[in-house]
Amino acid sequence: MTLRSVILGTGSALPRRRVDNAELAQTVDTSDEWIVERTGIRARYIAGEGETTTTLALGAARNALDMAQVDASEIDLIILATATPDQTFPASATTVQAGLGINDCVAFDVAAVCSGFLYALTIADNMLRGGAARTALVIGAETFTRILDWEDRATCVLFGDGAGAVVLRAERTDARTGRGILASRLHADGRYNGLLNVDGGPSTTGTVGKVRMKGQDVFRHAVVNLAQVMTEVLTAVDLKASDVDWVVPHQANARILDATARKLGLDPSRVVVTVDQHANTSAASVPLALDTAVRDGRIKRGDLVVLEAMGGGFTWGAAVLRY
Ligand code: COA
Repeated sequence: MTLRSVILGTGSALPRRRVDNAELAQTVDTSDEWIVERTGIRARYIAGEGETTTTLALGAARNALDMAQVDASEIDLIILATATPDQTFPASATTVQAGLGINDCVAFDVAAVCSGFLYALTIADNMLRGGAARTALVIGAETFTRILDWEDRATCVLFGDGAGAVVLRAERTDARTGRGILASRLHADGRYNGLLNVDGGPSTTGTVGKVRMKGQDVFRHAVVNLAQVMTEVLTAVDLKASDVDWVVPHQANARILDATARKLGLDPSRVVVTVDQHANTSAASVPLALDTAVRDGRIKRGDLVVLEAMGGGFTWGAAVLRY
């Protein structure tokens, strides 16, 4: 027997307003054809009045707790991955904690942009297996559309808002067949800041800033880094791409998903794709896609699942788990 972090439940939340490409093309110099051909994106959700990163995070957390049949009082760790917190401080995780009525637990945010959920999941996994906590809420939540430059058509059409969450619990399981996170790997290389960043911040401009990206360079790095880290994490547990039931990738661009799957020799029908409906929701995208595939019955208990993401920094990572 071995101690593993097992996903007991998943949840997600989206803003009320769905904006398809045709609607976006009324205010941005773009077209449905261009966006679909270059990215696979058909629609995104955009947070409106009263909707924030923490309201979305709370919605996702409540859904995950419901599925897990875990009471909020059992949560002793909350890690929220976001690049768009409600406030510069305190951590949005503490706002979620208060919203759930939990008076004392560990709660903090992780900033790794689109890889944020992989970072948060890996930290939670290590804390659970190390005995620092028993039951964790790991959330990825963003209102990324609030940091977009709506005059920059090369970026503003790519992103959306949303949240996803998982409830994780440390459980003793069979070392060979048991459920839980089997391995994860994280990376960062800060030399690439200039290819994908926000041109502001409390300590520099004193403003929030807007997303800036050199799309083609990001694309090239994404395919190489994602293929490399997925191979690395599978090798760590002596598995091959053909053993994997489902890949739940960061949903940035359908062409990145296709190119990465091809590089690894993965069956494309085993890759969960939600980018068409949600666009790139940064830290929310992996748990949002995971929840979608769990709730529509694709991912079943016992399935071997790989999660992967890459984002600003650059940061990137992957995890392999038996759901
Ligand atoms: N609508 C219409 N035309 C657009 C446009 C839009 N929304 N955005 C850019 N264009 C135009 C450009 O102005 C350019 O026109 P030009 O040839 O007349 O100068 C043309 O389309 C090609 O631009 P380019 O930037 O070379 O396009 P691309 O094929 O590289 O596609 C991305 C752009 C952003 C879709 C692509 O680079 C990409 O997906 N990169 C990865 C980004 C990503 O996923 N980042 C997040 C990682 S976490």
